[in-house]
Amino acid sequence: LAACANSDTGADAGDGPIVLGFSQVGAESGWRTANTNSIKEAAAAAGIELKFDDAQQKQENQIKAIRNFIQQKVDVIAFSPVVESGWDTVLKEARDAKIPVILTDRSVDSADRSLYKTFIGSDFVKEGRLSGEWLIEQTRSATGPVTIVELQGTTGSAPANDRKKGFAEAIAANPNLKIVASQSGDFTRAGGKQVMEQFLKANPDIDVLFAHNDDMGLGALEAITAAGKVPGRDITIITIDAVKDGMQALADGKFNFIAECSPLLGDQLMELVRKVHAGEEVPARVETQETTFTQEQARAALPNRRY
Ligand code: AHR
Repeated sequence: LAACANSDTGADAGDGPIVLGFSQVGAESGWRTANTNSIKEAAAAAGIELKFDDAQQKQENQIKAIRNFIQQKVDVIAFSPVVESGWDTVLKEARDAKIPVILTDRSVDSADRSLYKTFIGSDFVKEGRLSGEWLIEQTRSATGPVTIVELQGTTGSAPANDRKKGFAEAIAANPNLKIVASQSGDFTRAGGKQVMEQFLKANPDIDVLFAHNDDMGLGALEAITAAGKVPGRDITIITIDAVKDGMQALADGKFNFIAECSPLLGDQLMELVRKVHAGEEVPARVETQETTFTQEQARAALPNRRY
């Protein structure tokens, strides 16, 4: 059978397995581990040959990995950009090599939309907004100030920028709610613990912690307990992700609310890979379906949680 050349991708759509080069952010959180597993399992199930690279949370490693994929002439490149800015040059190189690019999980701030085919991932602004709206409901009867500290994700990353924005916009509805400190814990447990220790030293009367992911919230639990406070009671804790450890903390009453961010992007990603490789039309944006959890909802959902 003659190979059928695809003029859009410059690839041969007919012979051998599709080769996908995937540059992952790192292994910073439970979410990331679940996301990596989902991508590896889905590639194997779809018969797609996966070249996987772990960038260890460094943009320069991701740029290097993408350039390697271009050199190896992979069929499709997908990556989860550690930060939003600074991708135009390498994305142009991929476009010049006629290798289609798919953004997964996190987006980039490039103005040129022709640099990538599609973006699959969550609405991070919405996750921040849902977290803030829950807090607004909980503090409706508060007469005095409500002191909030915020553990931000990796500086410059889309989820850190967007969750901060969505949360700030939602809590603006009640002027009693004030963020007194906001700092990056890099989406890690160690980062969350260390920054929370500083927050507690500088602000003895914290009412609420908003952590941009479960792992930082879990790290913060250690700092809160060590400071002699009861998490979930003395300090209300809101996080994002809903990975198993986070859901367990919520079910145990140590967290108070989680906005879900699904890492199970693998199957949908492979479907998009297949389509862009075949030169088929794909939607410019594929949004993940998500929900939120209270303590009671976490107790009900936990037994069936896959990750
Ligand atoms: O980009 C998604 C975020 O990255 C997750 O919320 C966080 O846990 C991860 O590290």
